[in-house]
Amino acid sequence: MQIRPFRPEDTDAVIALWQDAGLTRPWNDPRKDIARKATVQPELFVVATDDGGRVLGSVMAGYDGHRGWMNYLATASDARGQGVGRLLVAHVEAALLELGCPKLSLQVRTTNPQVVAFYEHLGYGIDDTIALGKRLITD
Ligand SMILES: CC(C)(COP(=O)(O)OP(=O)(O)OC[C@H]1O[C@@H](n2cnc3c(N)ncnc32)[C@H](O)[C@@H]1OP(=O)(O)O)[C@@H](O)C(=O)NCCC(=O)NCCS
Repeated sequence: MQIRPFRPEDTDAVIALWQDAGLTRPWNDPRKDIARKATVQPELFVVATDDGGRVLGSVMAGYDGHRGWMNYLATASDARGQGVGRLLVAHVEAALLELGCPKLSLQVRTTNPQVVAFYEHLGYGIDDTIALGKRLITD
């Protein structure tokens, strides 16, 4: 298995992976999300591939100067339980630490509570916060 930065030719495979993993939403155009990420810290958007080059997983991360953030963590359903997710998270943690990032944050949809145990297993704690958001661009 290899972790490398996302390449434009990964687009279809990555979007299929996100759809399979239940991460896409009608109000979020994944192609626009990918295009935006290409303009901001693109090196923090990485994929895990097998020896044949198949995309097994992805994660999109960033550092805003205060917190690191992680989105679109996904492992292909037939490749789960083999360490892909752990490796992707470890990669992001190392890359953000290298940038001096003191804390990594992420959000879990309330419709996806089962993934919380995965993050807790990797050392993440539940913060006493309420997540708010405001859409600035309608996709
Ligand atoms: C969450 C997800 C990325 C995990 O990927 P994965 O490649 O199967 O995870 P790994 O095989 O690397 O597992 C790492 C460790 O977490 C544990 N783990 C995996 N899923 C777990 C779960 N749901 N609850 C508790 N522990 C879990 C594994 O047993 C493993 O433990 P170990 O390394 O100590 O043996 C994958 O289930 C997924 O793509 N889910 C759908 C998308 C999603 O919900 N993404 C997160 C959005 S916030």
